[in-house]
This record gives sequence, C-alpha cells and structure tokens, in this order.
Amino acid sequence: MGKGFYISRPLGFVLCGLGIVAMLTIFSLSVVYTKEKRKNQVTAINETGMVTTAAPHTTPAPSNEPWDKYRLPDTLLPEYYNVTLWPRLVPDEQGMYIFTGTSGVALTCIKETNLIIIHSNKLNYTLTLEKHHAKLTGLGGTSAPAILKTWFQTQTQFMVILLNEKLEVGKSYWLYMEFRGELSDDLAGFYRSQYTENGVKKVVATTQMQATAARNAFPCFDEPSMKAVFHLTLQHPPETVALNEYHTNPSHLTQKVPTRFKPTEKMSTYLLAFVISEFTKIQSSEKTNVLIRIWGRKEAIESGQGDYALNVTFPILKYFENYYNTTYPLSKSDQVALPDFAAGAMENWGLVTYREQSLFYDPKESSNGDKEWVVTVIAHELAHMWFGNLVTMRWWNDLWLNEGFASYVSYLGADYAEPTWNIVSNIYIYSIYFRAFAVDALVSSHPLSSREDEVITPDQISQLFDTITYSKGAAVLRMLSEFLTESVFAKGLHNYLHEYAYSNTVYTDLWKKLQEVNSRIQLPASIKEIMNRWILQMGYPVVTIDTRTGNISQQHFLIHPEAVVEKPSDYNYEWFVPITWMKSGSNMGQHWLLTKTALYEPMKTGTDWLLANLNVMGYYRVNYDPQNWERLLTQLTTDHKVIPVLNRGQIIDDAFNLARAQIINITLALRTTKYLLKEKEYIPWESAIRNLQYFFLMFDRTEVYGPLQTYLRRNVQPLFDHFQNITSNWTQKPPRYMDQSNQINAISMACRTGVKGCSELTRMWYRQWMKNPDSNPIPPNLKNTVYCNAIAAGGVEEWDFGWQMFKKSTIAAEAEKLLYGLSCTKEPWLLNRYLEFTIDPKQVRKQDAAFAIVYISGNVIGQPLVWDFVRAKWEQITKDYDDGSFFFGRLIQGITKKFSTEFELKQRLKEDIAASSFSFGTQAIEQAIEKTKANIKWVSKNKAQVMNWLTEQST
Ligand SMILES: *[C@@H]1O[C@H](CO)[C@@H](O)[C@H](O)[C@H]1NC(C)=O
Ligand SMILES: *[C@@H]1O[C@H](CO)[C@@H](O)[C@H](O)[C@H]1NC(C)=O
Ligand SMILES: *[C@@H]1O[C@H](CO)[C@@H](O)[C@H](O)[C@H]1NC(C)=O
Ligand SMILES: *[C@@H]1O[C@H](CO)[C@@H](O)[C@H](O)[C@H]1NC(C)=O
Ligand SMILES: [Zn+2]
Repeated sequence: MGKGFYISRPLGFVLCGLGIVAMLTIFSLSVVYTKEKRKNQVTAINETGMVTTAAPHTTPAPSNEPWDKYRLPDTLLPEYYNVTLWPRLVPDEQGMYIFTGTSGVALTCIKETNLIIIHSNKLNYTLTLEKHHAKLTGLGGTSAPAILKTWFQTQTQFMVILLNEKLEVGKSYWLYMEFRGELSDDLAGFYRSQYTENGVKKVVATTQMQATAARNAFPCFDEPSMKAVFHLTLQHPPETVALNEYHTNPSHLTQKVPTRFKPTEKMSTYLLAFVISEFTKIQSSEKTNVLIRIWGRKEAIESGQGDYALNVTFPILKYFENYYNTTYPLSKSDQVALPDFAAGAMENWGLVTYREQSLFYDPKESSNGDKEWVVTVIAHELAHMWFGNLVTMRWWNDLWLNEGFASYVSYLGADYAEPTWNIVSNIYIYSIYFRAFAVDALVSSHPLSSREDEVITPDQISQLFDTITYSKGAAVLRMLSEFLTESVFAKGLHNYLHEYAYSNTVYTDLWKKLQEVNSRIQLPASIKEIMNRWILQMGYPVVTIDTRTGNISQQHFLIHPEAVVEKPSDYNYEWFVPITWMKSGSNMGQHWLLTKTALYEPMKTGTDWLLANLNVMGYYRVNYDPQNWERLLTQLTTDHKVIPVLNRGQIIDDAFNLARAQIINITLALRTTKYLLKEKEYIPWESAIRNLQYFFLMFDRTEVYGPLQTYLRRNVQPLFDHFQNITSNWTQKPPRYMDQSNQINAISMACRTGVKGCSELTRMWYRQWMKNPDSNPIPPNLKNTVYCNAIAAGGVEEWDFGWQMFKKSTIAAEAEKLLYGLSCTKEPWLLNRYLEFTIDPKQVRKQDAAFAIVYISGNVIGQPLVWDFVRAKWEQITKDYDDGSFFFGRLIQGITKKFSTEFELKQRLKEDIAASSFSFGTQAIEQAIEKTKANIKWVSKNKAQVMNWLTEQST
C-alpha cells in the first residue's frame, strides 16, 4: 500500500504546531502500520455455518494438520476464478448491510491430495443439496471425487474440504460455492463507506484486500504467489457505476447491470479491487492509449478537487514507463477517492483507491504540504503498477522490497511532475531518512528482510507495514542506486521486470539482475554481499572520522546508550559503508569503509574542515574529532552557505542524535543551532525544529521550559521578521516554493516561543474568519499553525467555531487541519469533550479517530487526559476499531511519546498494559518502553547542562 494499506497509511508522530511537517509526517509513507492483534474474541463461522466465539487465541497448539498451518499447502494452483457479487446498498430488516455471491475457481492439482484448503473469513455458506458448503466437478472431462466433509478453521481462516479420493496430478477441477457476507464499515475486505450529498446518505461498496482480506470477500487462495485470472461480475443498482481492474466490455459502457468485466491479467488476490458507487469522474483528454480517470464524490469532482490528480497522473505514468523502459501493463488507470479508507492509498492494479486527502487537492483551500502529499502518494501507487503488481514478491517477508522501492521512486516520479519543488532533496530527506533513522536506532528495531517462515499469521504480516519497511527500504535502495548510478540501476530494473512479468520473485532476484548489468562501476564486493549487511541486520552505523590521523571507524548507532542488542547478526553489526566527503568546500572524494576501523590518509585535514555523507545519500550518521566539529561550527557561523544546505540540516540532526546517544556532549548539539540566526533555508530549520521538538516533549513541564523559550525566541525572531518583509506584512505568498514551506516554520516557532506579533496575527486571521465563515482569509499553507495557535489562545467560542467548520467541511485536507487545530486548546474540559467525539463515528470518521487522539496527546494538557481516556474506553475502542488496522500502533506510539519519568514507565506502560487486555502488536509496545527508558536517562543526565547552557545564552 501506499502508504498503502497500510500505506499509505500515514502517521508517525505529530509535531504539534508545525503545519506542513505534521501533515507530511502524518501521512508519511511509513505510517506505523502495526496492527492491533485481535484479542479475546474471534468471531467466526463454524462448520454448521453458525457464528461461534472462540477463546482468546494464544499460541496455537502445535499440530501437523495442514489446516492448522497458516500457509497454503503446495498441492493445488488456481488458474482462474468466476466471481459474482451482489452488495446491498441498503440495510436488511436486521439493519445489517450484506452482500451475497457465488464463486467458482478452476484449480490444477500439482501434488496428489484428498484435501482442498482455501481461504475464507467471515463468510457464511449456503449448503448444497448434498449438504456441503461447496461443489466439486472435473474440468476437461475429468471426473471429480466426492466431498466427504467440509468445515471451517477460523483461526487459520480456511475452508477445508475432505474428499473421498485423491485429486489427480495434472488434472483440473472446478470448485463452486455460494456465500453471504457482511458489507460492514470495518475498512477491510468488501466494505462500505458512507457520505452525505445534498442531505441524502450515499453508500459506496468498496474493497481493501491487502494484505489478507480478499478472503473476506470471496473464498480464494489468498497468497501473493497464487496469481490467477479473475472474471468478475457485479450486480448493482442501475444508478451506480461499477469499477474493476478492467473496463466492462466497451459495448457495455452504457450502464447495464449486472456489470460483467473483462477477465483481469494474471494477478495476486491482494491487488484486486472493485467499487460500486454514485461517484462521478473526470478523464484526461490527452491522446494516449491509456485511459486515465479520477473518480470521487460528485461535489468534490465538480468543484475541481480531482483536477490536480488528473494533471499529474499522465506525466507520472510517462515518467515510470520511461524509467522502467516498459509500457504501462494495462489499458486504463482509474483512481478513486473514498470517504472512508484506512490506509493512505492502495495500489490495486488499474484501480487505485485513496483516502480523499491523498487524491484531492483544492487550490483555494489546500496547502503546499497537501499538494506534496497528493503527488507523492500518486507516484508511489503508480510505481507499484509495475514493481509489485506486474512482478510481485513471492511472500510477505519481501514486503520491504515492494514498499521501499515504491517509496524511493515515488520521489523521482513526483519530482518529474513538479520539477520546481526540489522534492528529491528537500522533502525526501525528512520523510524517508530521518524517519527511518529514528526507529532504526532502537534495539527493538528489526532487519528489513525477514525469513519466510517468520511471517506467517495475518497479524505478523500486517506488522510488517511499518517505518522500517517503507522508509529504511527506500533509503537503502536509494543508496544502492546512488553508488551503482541511476542508469545501471534502471537498466537492471528493466531486465528484472521483463524476466519476471506476471510472476513472483524474492529479493535476491533483483540483486542478480542488477549484478548482471553492472560492468562499469567498480564495487568492493558483489551487490549481494554489500546489500546483505544493510538488509539482514537491523540498525545502521555511525561513522567516526578522526581528521587528525585519518582514522575512520564504524559502530552500530543506538539512541539509547545502555541498550543491549540481543539479536545476533551474522555480520557483527558492521556494514560496507560508501563514504562520500568534501574538505573546506571543495576537494571531494569517495571511499568504502569495509571493516570496523581503517586508516585512510586522505581524511587527514590539517586546518581544513571535513564533511562526510554529502547530500545525505548514505544511510549512516557521521561523527568527527572535536577539532573538526569546532571547524564546522566556525564555518557555519562565518559563512554557512559554503556547506550544502542538506548537510547543514544533517549536521544539526547528527549532532542532536549523537548527543542523545551520549556520544557527544549535548552542548555541542545545541551549539549547532546558534547560527540559525542567519539561516533562512527550510531544510536546516526543519531539522532544528524536529530535534528541538524532543526538548519540548521532555521539558515542557519543567523549569527548563522558560530559558528554552527565551533562547529560541531570539533565534527565530530574524526569520519571522524576514518573512514579514518578503510577504509585505503577511499579505503575499513568498515566491520560492521552499520559502513557502519555511514560512510555516517561522510562524509556528514564533508563536510557540512567544515572538511579539505572532499570536496577534493568528488571532486576527481567525477572528476575521469567525466574522465571515464563508470566506476564510487564512493562507492555506498557514492554516494548521493558525488554527492551532488561535484555538489555543481562545476559548469555547473559538473551539466551537472550529468544530462547526470541521463538521461542515467537504474538503478532506481542510477537515484534517481543523481536526488538528481543535487539539490545541488549553481547556481540559474542551479536550475531554473532544476525546468523546473522537470515538463517536457520527462525529469523527473512524479513519480519523487515531489521528485526533494522537493530536490531543501532543498537547501538554491533553496527554494525561488521553492516557486515562484510552484506558477507560479500551473495551469499546478495541471492539469498534478492530479492523482499522493502523489504529493501535499509531495510538500507542502517539500517546506514549512524551513519557519521560519512572512513574510513567512503571505505573503506566508496563502495569497498565499487563493489567488491561492490551494484546496488540508487541512491537509498538516494546518500542514505546525502550523509548521511555531512554527518555528517563536522557532527562536525568542532561537537564542541568541544558539549563546552564540556555541560561548562559541569555546573559
Ligand atoms: C456451531 O456453533 C453453534 C452456535 O454456537 C453451535 O450450537 C454448534 O454446536 C456449533 N457446531 C459445531 C460443529 O461446532
Ligand atoms: C467462467 O466465466 C467465463 C466467462 O464468463 C466462461 O467463459 C467460463 O465458461 C466460466 N467457467 C466455468 C467453469 O463456468
Ligand atoms: C452468518 O450467520 C450467523 C449465524 O446465523 C449470523 O449471525 C450472521 O449475521 C451471518 N452473517 C451474514 C453476513 O449473513
Ligand atoms: C491542471 O492543468 C490545467 C491545464 O494545464 C491548468 O489550467 C490547471 O490550473 C491545473 N489544475 C491544477 C489544480 O493544478
Ligand atoms: Zn506501497
């Protein structure tokens, strides 16, 4: 997913007060996809077609029965399916929305067996005349054995069919079933989404199959390598339109129901999609053999919200056709915006589905950040049309290659569509590298690649949709493409896509293809040997360069200095590191560090400064001897422009992280921010603000807060003045794109630290808006920070106005900003009321609930309220939000990020979790505990020093 099912399921942590950053982060590809583990109740349908409630499933008792294993046996292969589905878009007498269906699958026996095991989850079956749940016949003149017995294994989500005789190798059979399922609002499988248009409720029937929910829609062999052709027929009301991977037969383009689609290409079940809706569309007029259409709510499409997506889709498709040197495999590209969608987007082949704010853009209402989000998500999803869809990973353990790759090239595609934005260098760095750097510096991180037998259950699969998979995957592939050169990389890709089209691969197949085409670039080892170190061991190195001697060394970078790494690594936590460097603004070089330590004379500098990891192409941090750090600091204060802008951001980020890991002194890190008085560029400010965010999180309830505010206020004042100037007193938009982004930083930092005039400015805008709700005077880029600051400075009147605007908003990106702004109030009762609203689906859509709660926990007053609230409502939340997938990981990560005291660690995390029925993905919890421990140590070690340093600065 893009940000898919999980992807594009977005959200890491929210930086309160930082508009664009918050939006980008929220939506970042790598959301925390950790899925909640279904706990105590497993509702399922037992053998007689009745719903049963199984006991909490702990570790399954070891069993050798094939139906107790989660993986399908290797005895049968599906060839094609004939599926007919009929969703009812109105509730039945019991108030339930249901769908009925029939499905036949042609399967070939490749190993003798008297069992048919096929995935099925939450479906009720009709009994045949012989009182079985399925019918088996032979194809091509074969006769089929009789069915002895059929039953359902709810835990492994199988329907099992026992036959009286064995199926014959090489023969094909037709397995036919009739069934009924719920078209529920759980955002998984075949589900429903709702919205209101002109006061009328509209129901959309749509799908989200990745990773393991195709089996909720119809019985199927639901594994990515079980590729087959799908013949789909949808029964639907005549006023609705039905979409699938393919067109209906062109002669049927007039609305005729049922809609019978042309057979799909040979494809994986998780990439199927179908949508039945009253949506309207726009389509490209470009002369092309691919039909490009954007679908959505009538109101949104007619007001032009889909225009931007339509504008960029064609160039992005062209870019990828060219980049892969392979034509787009299908004849059309539909993209649909859904009012309810769990991930950010999902790359269904030819029918990509999105959250509204991932596809819709409104030039009047949306910010630059919204636009960046849209173009990068579209590029991510379209990149999958080849990489992932045409060639698919054999099993989910290689998900990192699929998602890391799409995340990497999404920036190339987006850059092609928006060449003036500098997406690759500016936005990329933060949404990919620094997100991955943060999570991968924990001992609870994990290697990119897992063994196939380590990822078996649906929960294990959905836990893979995390920051490591998306962001680290992208970072290491970018590093590979960089040292291999983009042209060799693209050539290898082309060969890979051609050799494995319509089939499945493991990641070493890609290495092989790249190795074959590389004749030019001298590498110190094979691609496999180099890359194994980056993908088979977790973490990354900090490279230390001693410019006095030319000694370089590497060490596994861990943010928590006393953390003990328990997972062994075959490579001893050493990497093959491609080091690029420059000296005093000229004189560049490159060198491979292949051992723990090495002597490399050219790194000796005398009085020059040395800077390594140019433009942050490599997935590692850099530390230097103290003299070199001083020389870099001197260069920053005298003429910072000699150092490339990305590396100015890197110096700050590396210094703060090295300080957190206690490798360098905290005051050295703080000193990297002193030159910001003169800095006007986005990247270094962004880096500083992100790192200082940690200081806010840790110190906003302590005596350090005052001096921190004073110091930062002085630093940001010139930036605030600069923007006031270049915008003619806030009346115009800064002309440069990156300045538009940095203006948001200027205002949010200024307001946060109390720069004079800032709060007044935001309140003035907001009040103007309250006076005239139909005309919002707030510049779209600044809305996040203005809403937040004005609502924080105001009372119930401001809050209620914001809430009304939220309820009225028909633009998803606008609603999202208000959702965030509302969390900024300083009134506990308003926050509590807001929390109640968040878990009432009539007030806040389920897809947004976790975001809202996490936003509230970013507020210093809201944080304790949220923790109490979540614990008190845990039963309800787990019950109602169970299938929303990202929900729980997001929630835990978000609400625990401020924890910094023993009390919080002991009393809250561990005991509460033990005492409650929490049982979700252990990874999110382990990471939260590890981070809290590190926070405690850090605060006790550094508080006094930080306090002293800050106090000295103001004298
Ligand atoms: C199926 O579930 C129903 C309702 O819980 C129960 O009465 C019935 O005995 C179960 N059948 C089997 C075979 O377990
Ligand atoms: C499946 O559907 C296709 C297309 O409608 C049809 O040609 C084929 O005969 C069907 N297969 C079976 C076994 O019914
Ligand atoms: C499936 O059967 C059970 C038991 O009869 C029933 O409670 C449930 O609502 C059924 N589901 C659907 C979608 O019909
Ligand atoms: C889409 O492209 C058209 C034609 O170039 C342009 O006029 C329009 O402003 C674009 N719309 C958006 C939202 O970018
Ligand atoms: Zn993806």
